[in-house]
Amino acid sequence: MSRLFEPLTLRAVTIPNRVFVSPMCEYSCTDGLPNDWHLVHLGSRAVGGCGLVLTEAASVSPEGRITPWDAGIWNPAQVEAWKPIVKFIKSQGSVPGIQIAHAGRKASCAQPWSGGGPLALDAGGWKTLGPSAVPFGRYPAPREMSATDIEACVADFRLAADRSLQAGFEVAEVHAAHGYLLHEFLSPISNVRSDDFGGSLSNRMRFPLMACQAVRDAWPKEKPVFVRISASDWKDGGWDLEQSVAFCRELKAMGIDLVDVSSGGNAHDQKIVLGPGYQVPFSAAIRRDAGIPTAAVGLITEAVQAEHVVSTGQADAVCLARALLRDPYWARHAAKSLGVDLKWPDQYLRADVGPFGR
Ligand SMILES: Cc1cc2nc3c(=O)[nH]c(=O)nc-3n(C[C@H](O)[C@H](O)[C@H](O)COP(=O)(O)O)c2cc1C
Repeated sequence: MSRLFEPLTLRAVTIPNRVFVSPMCEYSCTDGLPNDWHLVHLGSRAVGGCGLVLTEAASVSPEGRITPWDAGIWNPAQVEAWKPIVKFIKSQGSVPGIQIAHAGRKASCAQPWSGGGPLALDAGGWKTLGPSAVPFGRYPAPREMSATDIEACVADFRLAADRSLQAGFEVAEVHAAHGYLLHEFLSPISNVRSDDFGGSLSNRMRFPLMACQAVRDAWPKEKPVFVRISASDWKDGGWDLEQSVAFCRELKAMGIDLVDVSSGGNAHDQKIVLGPGYQVPFSAAIRRDAGIPTAAVGLITEAVQAEHVVSTGQADAVCLARALLRDPYWARHAAKSLGVDLKWPDQYLRADVGPFGR
């Protein structure tokens, strides 16, 4: 029996298996509008049998985008553009989820294939926001957010959740990882404020918790909310596992249903020790010590490895990114190798058996 291909029920939503599409920016929108690329990209992974298809980071506001080509969920036109994508994912039996994000001091960049890095104001860039005027590496220093900015941003997260619901999403994931705005508030590397939003752990957690609470409040009781965190800055004096456990206990208390456990992204000089499943121990520790369901992510590439992570209780699900870019049918191939009969779409049934098909 495979645990990986057992359904996962969170509130009233049943995700048919525990292979999740990890959020992946495609940097292919205009004005934050998802398009045919997103339909085919996300749709293929639904056809490929993934239980949950999470969108890329969808920004809560124009200035929250990593690049001008990021997806958005700040206006009604974007709601309409997401609808056919959500509908197609559902038609394949997968559950559609949206990642709601603000890039903070790491916003206003070029597409990675154009070199990435900060985009100058006269090249379509904009002035970024952050907890403090502390730059990320060679990026420009952001403007320190005022209490009014913080309030407005919490309202943006709430509205983004409302709009995601209108678009038909079943799961909302708040992006509090990878050195983007909410992670920046959590970490003493990027947050040197001396007001109620900086200093002590509880002060640094205040705004991220407000944003998560706003999404939880806006999201229906019968649908789950996830939060993606970076469990470590991989740098002395930064955010770490112990603080992550404290944060996740608060998330659990407010009714967050699952923590998607990633790491890094907030210190330009981080020292990550990479290897297969290198972030899984963070997930295991958070699941155990905060008592909240988790998804593990990061260099999970093999069926047996993913099965092991879930069946040994290190996570309730796995998120895959690059392995799913290489093979949109990863879940189908994994199921086959684990001896699980994952139903193919009717249109593709003849591909399901033997080297010569049916
Ligand atoms: C092309 C690409 C885009 C990504 N965009 C996002 C994103 O929008 N939000 C996010 O939380 N992580 C993003 N990530 C990180 C992945 O979700 C994942 O955490 C990371 O790639 C590690 O998983 P992997 O080893 O399976 O690729 C992105 C990764 C890739 C490769």
